[in-house]
Amino acid sequence: MQEIKFFSGENIPLELHKTRIVQKLNLVPIERRLEALYEGGFNTFRLSTKDVFLDMLTDSGTNAMSDKQLSAMMHADDAYAGSQSFVRLQKAVEDVLGKKYLLPVHQGRAAENIISKAYVKSGSLVPMNYHFTTAMAHITENGGKIVELLYDEAYVINSDHPFKGNMNIGKLEEMIKLHGAKNVPFIRMEASTNLIGGQPFSVQNLRDVRALADKYGIRLVLDASLLGENAYLVLKREEEFMQSTIGEVIKVMTDLADLIYFSARKLSSSRGGGICTNEVEIYKELEAFIPLYEGFLTYGGISVREIESMAVGLYETLDETVICQSPNFIAYLVGELDKKGIPVIKPAGVLGAHVDAMQICSHIPQAEYPAGALAAALFLISGIRGMERGSISNQRDEYGNETYADMELLRLAIPRRVFTLSQIKYVEDRLTWLYQNRNLIGGLRFVDEPPVLRFFMGGLEPTTDWPQKLMAKFKEDFGESL
Ligand code: F0G
Repeated sequence: MQEIKFFSGENIPLELHKTRIVQKLNLVPIERRLEALYEGGFNTFRLSTKDVFLDMLTDSGTNAMSDKQLSAMMHADDAYAGSQSFVRLQKAVEDVLGKKYLLPVHQGRAAENIISKAYVKSGSLVPMNYHFTTAMAHITENGGKIVELLYDEAYVINSDHPFKGNMNIGKLEEMIKLHGAKNVPFIRMEASTNLIGGQPFSVQNLRDVRALADKYGIRLVLDASLLGENAYLVLKREEEFMQSTIGEVIKVMTDLADLIYFSARKLSSSRGGGICTNEVEIYKELEAFIPLYEGFLTYGGISVREIESMAVGLYETLDETVICQSPNFIAYLVGELDKKGIPVIKPAGVLGAHVDAMQICSHIPQAEYPAGALAAALFLISGIRGMERGSISNQRDEYGNETYADMELLRLAIPRRVFTLSQIKYVEDRLTWLYQNRNLIGGLRFVDEPPVLRFFMGGLEPTTDWPQKLMAKFKEDFGESL
């Protein structure tokens, strides 16, 4: 894609869309934001959007939809079985992802449930480039364990490595030899590895994984939820593909996988999810689970209107101007934060900017959840809602012990075509202030800890009165400003 340069020399990610439907936002006073934190157990998942100004919790189901997606919803075919909306979706999956068998599911984790139910049993080991919370929960629920096999550079915050999501090929082969291929039901590759900062893998790496999968007769499963953005970064960063189109890169990647699943909440800026393959045996192995857990095979728990928007959204994944917007805004924010010395995962990845709470809150022990504390502090002083991606998002081990996360990140999601550049500048401004006042941020502790996926609904409290002190300093510096 051609870049648009500014005469001034400034590096500005120019929007190639216009806004046609808007939603009004509120920025409530800091006193109300403090109350909201106490009401929501200092957990940003539990905030109500009436108290949130910029919702950077996630890109899941929050990407802006296009006019074409919205209009497609109007000609959905309401039918329990044999809906033409599903036929259109099947065609889109075949055209974009190159797989002819499609099983619809209500969202990504439903696919993880079904794949784990079908293939994971007690003693199974599933190697992956990194875990995702729900993928891991389903594998462990079925008696399996995950094995994370990244290269060391994946954990380096301040890096210029283009593909930190690459699977460590040497370790993968070692692991298969050690445990035996029969105990490895599948290898899972996650496009744009979410929890290490939305970092892509290269096509070459996927080819190398494929070669090992073939050598040992193991299925290769691709989590394609963030595939479009991974393909975009391949175009930008992998020599062999710099002249390719995004659709060509997507096809090369999907051709290498036996089975693909995705959250359509991300991939196609809609709702829903899917599992697809070209292998009839895999299709048959999974088929029976769809009516059991999701719905009939031509809707899988997704409304037909959403199925229509999903089909159009999949085709729009091939449009570089759609896919580049979020990574380019992320790169802009990461670049500006980096200039101010605020530690943030580099190189800029996809999904959002990932701020390093381990460094910013180095005075807070991991047992007091620095990333959760930073998320709460940022909401307090700005109304910006980010997501903790650190030890709170980890699950306890089989003996009930805390497992501390490799990274303590505050993720600030930048969904596709949602925010304006001045809003991004506000994020930068408030984070800069918070960074300068970081010593005022204190720790958190659980008061109510759910046994599974605790980060969603868990309740915490501050270990001291640090939120009041932080608020006092904000008022001192900003006066009456919201
Ligand atoms: N795989 C990846 C890589 C994901 O990022 C997600 C969701 C899922 C699977 C599960 O899909 O939400 O449709 O059930 N990620 C969201 C996030 C929740 O905020 O990063 P789902």
